[in-house]
Amino acid sequence: MSNAVKVEVGLGERAYSIFIGRNLIEEAGERIAALFGDIRAAVVTDGNVACFHLDPLLSSLRGAGIEAAPVILPAGEKTKSFDALQEAVDAVLGARLERGDIVIALGGGVIGDLAGFAAGIIRRGMRFVQMPTSLLAQVDSSVGGKTGINTPRGKNLVGLFHQPRLVLADTGVLDTLSLREFRAGYAEVAKYGLIDRPDFFAWLETNWRGIFDGGAARTQAIAESCRAKADVVARDELEKGDRALLNLGHTFGHALEAATNYDGDRLVHGEGVAIGMALAHRFSTRMNLASSDDAARVEAHLLAVGLPTRVADIPGSLPGPERLLDYIRQDKKVARGALTFILTHGVGKAFIARDVPASEVLAFLKESHPG
Ligand code: GLY
Repeated sequence: MSNAVKVEVGLGERAYSIFIGRNLIEEAGERIAALFGDIRAAVVTDGNVACFHLDPLLSSLRGAGIEAAPVILPAGEKTKSFDALQEAVDAVLGARLERGDIVIALGGGVIGDLAGFAAGIIRRGMRFVQMPTSLLAQVDSSVGGKTGINTPRGKNLVGLFHQPRLVLADTGVLDTLSLREFRAGYAEVAKYGLIDRPDFFAWLETNWRGIFDGGAARTQAIAESCRAKADVVARDELEKGDRALLNLGHTFGHALEAATNYDGDRLVHGEGVAIGMALAHRFSTRMNLASSDDAARVEAHLLAVGLPTRVADIPGSLPGPERLLDYIRQDKKVARGALTFILTHGVGKAFIARDVPASEVLAFLKESHPG
């Protein structure tokens, strides 16, 4: 087997390893058989990912003696629905998998969240393996056990914490991503530096081109991101405290996604996070918590990689500041009406700010709004 980088998620009896490197799809059969022994599997994926990666994965599994049933769902956010969940559950049960067998999620965040949720509820909990195929999924959603679906009332409102038993992040599959999708995932990489790893952020400022080009810098950045996330998850698996730090940029970002009706042509999640992180730093400056130099530094880096940083960068018209504040209030990070934000004292010094005055947020949104 190749020399993939290994990162451990220290969760006691639910601890697991993340492997990061090239050729992990080809090696998946051998690695899965070594960990689980004699099992059967279902591979949940979407139509787009299946075209590129399903056959190599199935043949790797077959080569290791693992019989696997493919479950191919439509690509896109709509798949995080009760209907698709039912389809996935039915397919796994139809393949006669038992609790000790495994569900493999081969895809981006949508597939990982849905397949993980299905695995968590089938037969009261099947084991599952994450094989993330987008940068965003490799550095964020495949690690930490959040699974779930959307409902008409909002995103990720129904789900479970259900940790995977193994994560195989094949960095070679990222070569097929569009530049836009890669950049959007990169926003989450930068986020870890901004939360509490200032040296990592400085390293990204120097090395980001290498990450986009592939090779050692890419593997290093994904591994460091996974280490950062694993540390937080090991401290606070169920998001009762520190895990909320991972939402840096997300409160503003989610509001902007909602304000654009989740129209991916206008704004994808990582772009919302990039704008949200820039806003969180500017808002922290406005609240006299951080220096304007830090906010300028963050914005300069996000701009250098080609990410948006301003509300005005979103194409088309947006609802006004009051409506944006309503979206912020509806975000699940609002605890009993109080506005909770992840703010910062500077690069790598993020903290959870509870009871942020809505009037300050509204004044800031008015200043930041292009209309
Ligand atoms: N993506 C945020 C978390 O996993 O907590």
